[in-house]
Amino acid sequence: MAHYKIAVIGGDGTGPEVVAEGIKVIKAVADLEGFTFETQELDWGGDRYLKTGELIPEGGVELLKQFDATYLGAVGHPDVAPGILEKGLLLTLRFELDQYINLRPVKLYPGVETPLADKKPEDIDFVVVRENTEDLYAGVGGNFKKGTPDEVATQTSVNTRKGVDRCLRYAFELCRKRNDKKRLTLVAKTNVLTYAHDLWDRAYKEMATEYPDIEADYNHVDACCMWMVKNPEYYDTIVTTNMFGDIITDLAAMIQGGMGVAAGGNIRPGGASMFEPMGGSAPKYTGQGVINPIAAIAAASMMLDFLGEEASAKRVEQAITKVTGTKMQSMAAGRMGHSTSQIGDLVCEAL
Ligand code: IPM
Ligand code: MN
Repeated sequence: MAHYKIAVIGGDGTGPEVVAEGIKVIKAVADLEGFTFETQELDWGGDRYLKTGELIPEGGVELLKQFDATYLGAVGHPDVAPGILEKGLLLTLRFELDQYINLRPVKLYPGVETPLADKKPEDIDFVVVRENTEDLYAGVGGNFKKGTPDEVATQTSVNTRKGVDRCLRYAFELCRKRNDKKRLTLVAKTNVLTYAHDLWDRAYKEMATEYPDIEADYNHVDACCMWMVKNPEYYDTIVTTNMFGDIITDLAAMIQGGMGVAAGGNIRPGGASMFEPMGGSAPKYTGQGVINPIAAIAAASMMLDFLGEEASAKRVEQAITKVTGTKMQSMAAGRMGHSTSQIGDLVCEAL
């Protein structure tokens, strides 16, 4: 029987509440499908930082490598200046563990309201493959003559051929196995970013010759934003840079019904990977049981898929679909008609 070790970083605010529901669902599906797992809770986050001044404890990155996956709730604490936890915890883990793919399925579950008129679940079902370790996130640049009227600030987009190639490879392979649409769309800005995105464009066109079964499509990022709102059904698999991916996946989260349903994975294929609901820590709702755990449960499903438990992952997805389609009133915090833990129970029952 397969056995997995999962590191759990509940994190700040409502993070621990939603991951508890995800773990509940993993337990239920493990019993049904026949695998076992153990979890180790790590108290990394805002409270620990305020007490100890430490973000990731000594040896923490190495520790995570000993697990089969990491399950993360949320980072963001009202008493910690914005950016400290995001950079010191989330981004550090992505970089140190070289989790070079940020995978964001964008799926409208039945019963979930989208702000797009006349769009149905079958119209909103695509995935964004966001490069997760380079670009404007590389931290290259500086403030020259800082604080003077002559100040100049630069922030360099770093794009390596190896980094671009491994991201594109993942996207082509995913697109090939996803469905019959087989349309991969590179989202970039080749008409303006004539160095960085020229590299992406060349690497993309070269790799496309290895995938004659896939339509190697291209959108400028601004056009993609329009198209995603007007014709989301056009998209199948999108591959894009770190910064553009950050922006378009928030747009995508809204058309799929909001942060309460959006899940993501920070993936290093074959290596230490981390799965998380996209919504924040919502500190003012901590302990009230009003936060929608569907995103966290969907992230758990992604983690199961990553672990090779594809049948379980599918089963959880189907259970989510059943619950959103029939049992929930709304996806919004506090208007679900059930508490956080009741939603977790409903998903377990629907398995
Ligand atoms: C995300 C988040 C992070 C990012 C923040 C919290 C640093 O917005 O996962 O999309 O910018 O990547
Ligand atoms: Mn973001």
